[in-house]
Amino acid sequence: MSDSSLFIPVILGTSRQGRQSEHVAKFIVEQVALRDRLETELIDIRNIAIANDDDDAGEPLKDPQFSATMERADGLIIVVPEYNHGYPGLLKHILDTCLKEYIHKAVGLCGVSAGPFGGTRVIQNLLPVMRELGLMTIFYDLNFSNVQKLFDESGNLLDKPTYIRRMEKFMDELVWMSTVLKYGRQEVSLEKKDSIQVNTHASKPCPEIAARMGADAMDTVLQVSRNAQTGEVKATPVT
Ligand SMILES: Cc1cc2nc3c(=O)[nH]c(=O)nc-3n(C[C@H](O)[C@H](O)[C@H](O)COP(=O)(O)O)c2cc1C
Repeated sequence: MSDSSLFIPVILGTSRQGRQSEHVAKFIVEQVALRDRLETELIDIRNIAIANDDDDAGEPLKDPQFSATMERADGLIIVVPEYNHGYPGLLKHILDTCLKEYIHKAVGLCGVSAGPFGGTRVIQNLLPVMRELGLMTIFYDLNFSNVQKLFDESGNLLDKPTYIRRMEKFMDELVWMSTVLKYGRQEVSLEKKDSIQVNTHASKPCPEIAARMGADAMDTVLQVSRNAQTGEVKATPVT
């Protein structure tokens, strides 16, 4: 891929047999692939084998292939069905296995529902999760309501022109955000002169560590610095 091209995979966020979201995800992959300078692929969470009875959750359960794909991605599309107004637990379990792979990357959300609201409620519930993962949500969503009526038996979308039109704005925004953030990740340094301003969750306020250091927990951001001679790494509260 050339430097101006983008890799934007599509996550199919349910493993349910008979899932309608699969038709939606396949339609989206097909449309993304038609765009210039975009590469995509379908990530079916059914194919990601991670433990669900382990002592751990989150990063210790990382799947190497999923992690590598998230690392390479410049942006993401998540197709998420609405289950009791929330997102499928398995989708969250899998998303939780990565963290630094997502940081400063754009994400577009696509809600799918049997009801009339097109997954708007699941999208609202997913927003804080996206933020905590370091992903930047775009301000257009895709909504597939009454999804059981939208596709024929072979999974072909019945009213393609309507959804192609809706996807235009969504994709324009996602491509713009992904391009800007890719430029930022490559060109805008977060390093300061004598210290590393860590571009990860380590530079977020951490009440627990701050409290242990006797600092005012809620307002404290820790700056991590490294002594150039000794290599010693030290965390100091930034006021
Ligand atoms: C456990 C569960 C809960 C659901 N809750 C909702 C809901 O809150 N609102 C809604 O519109 N549809 C709800 N549905 C219907 C799904 O939105 C519907 O199955 C749709 O096709 C998308 O999910 P799918 O990809 O699994 O088919 C629910 C389905 C399941 C399996």
